[in-house]
Amino acid sequence: MKKRVLITNSIPPVAYQTLRSKYSVTWNKSQLTESQLQKVVKPYHALLTTLADPITSRVLEAGSNLQCVANYAVGFNNIDIQAAKTKGVWVTNTPDVLTEATADIAWALLLACARRLPEGERMVRTGKFKGWHPLMLLGLDLKGKTLGLYGFGRIGQAVARRGRGWDLQVLYHQRHRVSRKLERELNARFVPFDELNNKSDFISVHTPLTSETRYRFRAKEFKRMKRSCIFINTARGLIHREKDLVTALKGHWIHSAGLDVYEAEPKVNSALLGLPNCTLLPHLGSATFETRNKMALLTAQNIDRVLSGIKPRTPVFNF
Ligand code: DGY
Repeated sequence: MKKRVLITNSIPPVAYQTLRSKYSVTWNKSQLTESQLQKVVKPYHALLTTLADPITSRVLEAGSNLQCVANYAVGFNNIDIQAAKTKGVWVTNTPDVLTEATADIAWALLLACARRLPEGERMVRTGKFKGWHPLMLLGLDLKGKTLGLYGFGRIGQAVARRGRGWDLQVLYHQRHRVSRKLERELNARFVPFDELNNKSDFISVHTPLTSETRYRFRAKEFKRMKRSCIFINTARGLIHREKDLVTALKGHWIHSAGLDVYEAEPKVNSALLGLPNCTLLPHLGSATFETRNKMALLTAQNIDRVLSGIKPRTPVFNF
């Protein structure tokens, strides 16, 4: 009997194509709730999940045949990792393949905020552009400024690498310092968290959401930033406190913010919607054809390896 795999949502077909000859694959095309997942999970040996699937201890408990949960994302805060470990279920994610696309989106937001692109675009579309004006929509230069990275793993480093084109100095903060060689290569300096907030002209978030990083940016942190600071978050919405960011933007404690992620996606704090100094994207970090295809292929390969008794390529933990 073929082992059974559930793909929980619409993803590029390469995942289905990779798995279908060897496994019995069910391809669900719309979002499932926790209780729906709990109801359907029992016969499956592997789940190919997205970041919107709550893989809680209840779902894992109901999945008595489960060997693998392959998340179609680099983040895996939607999965109860401890419960999976305890049950002996592999959890995998999609690092590396989405690094460049996500770094591009962070830069797109930074440029959009610095040069007020969405405001300009709205002006043109609403017929309010009445011709060039010396004082119209003035933004901020990037060249030679200081980029602060909260999180300096693969994506943070890719963002820093792009900063070389603008001769940016890079400050970073995370748990561990990287090698001196890499610091030199990326013109980066490790600083305490408060210094990151005080000294950076732009701050971009690139950490996973954990109990340590949850609400790491609150009113106190926004207060510490320069009034000309641009805050970018393409990681997870819960790393900053949305209501404090609204206060900071309304009060012009900082220049602007660019967000790809929200506290309670897909809900967006309604106050943000009315703020001109905020650029809002619908979680597009990895959304390119090439990247999403690679993510789909990697999740399928991880599933195939686990169900064939081989260690997955990108496990979130080891047994
Ligand atoms: C991730 O992978 O965690 C992104 O947020 C979506 O691709």
